[in-house]
Amino acid sequence: MKARDVFQAILSDMVQLFQAVSVYPESHQYVREPLARLHRRLQEEARRLGKLSIGFLGDQVVIDQIPFLATTTGVRRLIRKMNARGIEKVEIGEGIDAEELKRFLLLVSCAPPDAPEGEWRSLAFGRITGLGEAVPVDPTLGDFAPQVLDGAVNVLKEVLRSVAVDSRRSGVGDGRDIVATVMKALREEEFLVDRILRLQAHDDYTVTHSLNVCVLVVAQATQLGFPNAAIHDAGLAALLHDIGKELVPGEILNKRGKLNGEESVRMSLHPSLGAAQLKKLALDTDLPMIVCYEHHVRYNRSGYPKVRYTDALHPVSLMTQVADVYDALRTYRPYRPSLDQETTLGILREGRGTEFDPVFLDRFLQMVS
Ligand SMILES: [Fe+2]
Ligand SMILES: [Fe+2]
Repeated sequence: MKARDVFQAILSDMVQLFQAVSVYPESHQYVREPLARLHRRLQEEARRLGKLSIGFLGDQVVIDQIPFLATTTGVRRLIRKMNARGIEKVEIGEGIDAEELKRFLLLVSCAPPDAPEGEWRSLAFGRITGLGEAVPVDPTLGDFAPQVLDGAVNVLKEVLRSVAVDSRRSGVGDGRDIVATVMKALREEEFLVDRILRLQAHDDYTVTHSLNVCVLVVAQATQLGFPNAAIHDAGLAALLHDIGKELVPGEILNKRGKLNGEESVRMSLHPSLGAAQLKKLALDTDLPMIVCYEHHVRYNRSGYPKVRYTDALHPVSLMTQVADVYDALRTYRPYRPSLDQETTLGILREGRGTEFDPVFLDRFLQMVS
């Protein structure tokens, strides 16, 4: 393998690990496997070169003087996270052990900004000018919660695809981990809701949107005093509410301009397609299936699919509807710009009692205002 290919593999492993450690426990195979691989490669390269240096500057990662342009969101996030901790360059000695490497990754990826750094034996990092003496960084730069969510977005991408495409190999367990992460982050970070409201314009709309809706539903359920297990189920249901969109062609999902008749029909099938897929999974709760099916049935029963039953919609469906429309309006889409907070809240208020359940809407407006 040429040096460039090995470095590329090192970079890919780093990106993957940064995403994984913010969502999974250290013992999870998604952390253990890439960590073992990265450690082996770093050790081999540090031995070969005497010392391996990796720079994180602007839109480039430079490994032993070979530049890699940040062409993916994952690499851009890696650079951002490093820089947020004041790290522009890392030097790795040949004595690097897996434990020290893991400690470093956890520190950069998800430790709070003021976490102590500890001692380093085979690692030195800092700004390009003062390597080894990391310059103290403004703690406000270390946006802990969005980093956790960035990681969750990437894992969620896989979860949604695997659930939609293959009902036998579902990633629902990973979805549960994500909800637990969201709940933990909400407990530890009181500004999480405020921050998620500003976390927009990601590359993969359905994924980011699902995570945003999950955070907003978990926050509503927490505020309403749901017990922990119910908050968890509500979060999972919200996370999976648009799973049926994975089965709608991308050209329709991202079309600029209005959908034609046939396209609208295909789009309006996503709740029933998603619910059918979730039914096959036989989860230990029906809630994801119910919420997926009901999330576009409006409070006054307009919307889709046309339901015949007259029973009230599930409370989590009602909560998801508000969060769903809120997030959709706040986010930029190819066919319209994002709306500001005031305009968005105005549109939600107009739907009070028709599109949205008044009680849940009022609670939501209180929460985000
Ligand atoms: Fe939807
Ligand atoms: Fe949605």
